[in-house]
Amino acid sequence: MKKYTLLIIVLFYGGFLALGQNSKILSSVKNVETKVDSVLALMTLEEKVGQLVQYNGSWDLTGPASELDNKQKEDNIKKGLVGSMLNVLSVRATKEAQKLLMENSRMKIPMMFGYDVIHGYKTIFPVPLGETASWDLEAMENSARIAAIESVANGINWTFSPMIDISRDARWGRIMEGSGEDPYLTSMVAIAKVKGYQGNDLSGDLTIAATAKHFAGYGMAEAGRDYNTVNLGENELHNTVLPPFKAAADAGAATFMNSFNEIDGIPSTGNKNLQRDILKGVWNWDGFVVSDWGSIPEMINHGFAKDKKQAAEIAIKAGSDMDMEGGAYESSLLELVLEGSVDEKLIDDAVKRVLRVKFKLGLFDDPYKYSNPEIAANISYEDHKKAARDIARKSIVLLKNENNLLPLKPGVKSIGVIGPLANDKDSPIGNWRAQGEANSAVSVLEGIKTAVGRDVKVNYALGTTLGIGERSFLMPLEINTTDRSGYKEALEMAKKSELIIMVLGEDAFQSGEGRSQSKIGLAGLQQELLEEIHKVNKNIVLVLINGRPLELSWSSENIPTIVEAWQLGSESGNAIADVLFGKYNPSGKLPVSFPRTVGQEPLYYNQKNTGRPSSDLHVTYSHYTDVKKDALFPFGFGLSYTQFEYGEIDLSSPEMNADGNIEVSIPVTNTGKVIGKEVVQLYLRDMIASRTRPVKELKGFQLLDLKPGESRIVKFVIEEKMLQFYTINKIWESEAGEFEVFVGGNSRDVKSAAFNLIKNKA
Ligand code: BGC
Repeated sequence: MKKYTLLIIVLFYGGFLALGQNSKILSSVKNVETKVDSVLALMTLEEKVGQLVQYNGSWDLTGPASELDNKQKEDNIKKGLVGSMLNVLSVRATKEAQKLLMENSRMKIPMMFGYDVIHGYKTIFPVPLGETASWDLEAMENSARIAAIESVANGINWTFSPMIDISRDARWGRIMEGSGEDPYLTSMVAIAKVKGYQGNDLSGDLTIAATAKHFAGYGMAEAGRDYNTVNLGENELHNTVLPPFKAAADAGAATFMNSFNEIDGIPSTGNKNLQRDILKGVWNWDGFVVSDWGSIPEMINHGFAKDKKQAAEIAIKAGSDMDMEGGAYESSLLELVLEGSVDEKLIDDAVKRVLRVKFKLGLFDDPYKYSNPEIAANISYEDHKKAARDIARKSIVLLKNENNLLPLKPGVKSIGVIGPLANDKDSPIGNWRAQGEANSAVSVLEGIKTAVGRDVKVNYALGTTLGIGERSFLMPLEINTTDRSGYKEALEMAKKSELIIMVLGEDAFQSGEGRSQSKIGLAGLQQELLEEIHKVNKNIVLVLINGRPLELSWSSENIPTIVEAWQLGSESGNAIADVLFGKYNPSGKLPVSFPRTVGQEPLYYNQKNTGRPSSDLHVTYSHYTDVKKDALFPFGFGLSYTQFEYGEIDLSSPEMNADGNIEVSIPVTNTGKVIGKEVVQLYLRDMIASRTRPVKELKGFQLLDLKPGESRIVKFVIEEKMLQFYTINKIWESEAGEFEVFVGGNSRDVKSAAFNLIKNKA
């Protein structure tokens, strides 16, 4: 305490001129909180408000720009009235912006530079939904680490990732950006990503601050329409939507971003219960919350605030700490405090949170730490590409492989590669591509040609175009092509080829923000082309490149082999070729249910039993009259070139005490002919509870490599914590009673057993 008081006095008398001169004293103090308090004590109210302002550096605009022109922005940076900027790219640009502030402002508090580094910076990894299909947490941590290194090399010290919104609706364009429908899997990915970006210590040289977004409920938009209303009850909010955010907070995510949507009539940006009570209160998280782009003034459109000033008041009171390009804090916070509508203590709390992250990043020690050109010089993009190929092939999901058409046999003489995405070098890069260059992916055609060498004849035909227009982040292709001029060539080639690889799916920008669709079939003429080719050659391997689950009912009935290859990033074509030719035995499993028809959406495996369940999928009024109610390809599903057989579950005991555990053992055998990797999944069901519980919930998984004929006993340990949920008492606790345990290679085909949780009555 003595040290703390002394530091304040020292900094105060020296600080009116420049914090910079005092940076040595600050550096010598180890305790971040002492430093934060010392700096705060020197700041004027105007400077404090400045820390809560974020400007766009006019690169990728994802919303309306603020009213300020560049000159006004520059002046405010010089005065030190800006806490951070987004979309300022390159070490040169961030250095210049930082210099403006450091050389002109009184307090010299460095800015943070944020950017949407969602699945890689320059080396592009699979879109997050695809990457999650690998279930390989180590590989996902690694891709985040590489993204962090490339970001640092380009002046960025803060990514607006991971996006951990649970989404159950394939119509929602941003489903590609998250980890799918399951809270447990998404939580595990959240932890891996935070670790990958931030390392063990945020002050490391190659680490950046992560952002858990969008807090909260954004993925549950009604009818899958982006930005739409969310109706989310307490049970779903706590048991489904919040767990990944809790995991990210516990993993030390430096920042959170709130969301555009409302929940039950309250826009998340103005939601005190979410931000102040839960995140900063119950979870005791000490980072800062940045608004989503303009989400503070958007509360006016929501009909929740009458003007920017009121929006600012609501947002700061609710716990939104920084205003992303909304201009509301900048224009109104000072006045709100001076007139007594907002307590300065709230501003102080927000500023302390921002300063804390800046100290942890090491910006006070060296404001130009992230503007160091030497880092770029030491990057091995070749190594990053190898990692991109590794995770890309692990992300591929084999959905169907009738007659073992795959892997392609060495004897194959001629392959016809057909489809608008077959030689497309851009779509695999996907949306939210940061600085991934347009047309920079290895196409499927290129990957195949490299893999086969000269012995196999590879023919290519476009068949049809995906759509018309220029591709861009702001304007996706218009996918209403009627151009059948390529059919003839494709059909003739199909007739002559031994085997067809058809590459269909989605344009790069067909999924992503603001890209919701009411239809999720193969867009344009792709379905028609597929059916035409099928008439002349049935030996078809359908390779899908897409960011969302597609409607594949016709293909699943008629096409012998289907490979879900997502938008796999820079090394897409090579990774796909690795799988097609058996260099990699596919091991991916779906992180999201694929519906039979779009009318089933939202669709998810962890649904409730309802009062009228039925084990018969064809009849009874609890189903649709025109389609089965379950998924075409369920959550957790994915085939291999080998087969895995599951024995029976053995429980170490039929009963478990709250302080004990139960060991679940199950033999898994590779009964096929090649080495393979299986994702063994553990699910639980709480049979009777104070709130109805889902029919199955993923609670664990293990990746298992097995040689042909090899058998292993897989073990999971069930502890009381895994049985907890947010109960009717509004706390996380377990309830005594019967639980079912399921283990299997997907959420549908499982072995089961049961046990009882015994709890002593208080
Ligand atoms: C998106 C955020 C993104 C931000 C900045 C918004 O439109 O919802 O996810 O981080 O823009 O680009």
